[in-house]
Amino acid sequence: MDLDRIIKERRSIRKYQLKEIPQELLEEVLETALWAPSGTNKQDWELVVVRGKERDRLLEIVSKSQEYILPYLKKLFPEKIIKISLQVFKNLGGAPVVILVYIPKDVTGYERDLGDQGRYHLEFHRYNWLLSAAALTQNLLLAAYSKGLGTCWMTGPKYVEKEINELLNITDKELVSIVPIGYPDQSPPAPPRKEGVIKWVGF
Ligand SMILES: Cc1cc2nc3c(=O)[nH]c(=O)nc-3n(C[C@H](O)[C@H](O)[C@H](O)COP(=O)(O)O)c2cc1C
Repeated sequence: MDLDRIIKERRSIRKYQLKEIPQELLEEVLETALWAPSGTNKQDWELVVVRGKERDRLLEIVSKSQEYILPYLKKLFPEKIIKISLQVFKNLGGAPVVILVYIPKDVTGYERDLGDQGRYHLEFHRYNWLLSAAALTQNLLLAAYSKGLGTCWMTGPKYVEKEINELLNITDKELVSIVPIGYPDQSPPAPPRKEGVIKWVGF
């Protein structure tokens, strides 16, 4: 499949088949994802891949994030869409494996009136860590899709990050993305993309 199709045809999958992912396939997807670019090539990221009993416990914890996400969804979507959106928080669509993307914990303070350079200097590391982890997450989504697997990039479960980290024994890292992965049990339509977001300069 060519890259253009992979990028455009990948969809967020919120319902998965009860089918295990072969270990080899999972490792191939992760290996490809790790070729993402990173700030100064630091590769300051960590992937935590969860299945089995820990995955079951993780799903229970994630389901608690519904109460935090609901008020936000209510502001954005009609009832029908809210129902579908919440469903994935209940059990991550039944995905057999969940991948969590972590970065080092931010150690900088946040002060006011620093000016653009001062603020950027303060945030430099976290900024680069976050963007690099986002590139890694996108690679993960695309690599999985190219191999017949579905994913959904999720940040909603950040609301229960503390409990997630306790379960996974993570003490010194910040959670960036939660990605359920498995064989899709749905083929959702493509949500439309906005137009008019490109500003051409000097053309
Ligand atoms: C940073 C980020 C956070 C997201 N968080 C969630 C989430 O918490 N729950 C969810 O169901 N989808 C989440 N999504 C998926 C988006 O809703 C989805 O990408 C968007 O609606 C476009 O649909 P598509 O991925 O099928 O093209 C997230 C996507 C991104 C990039």
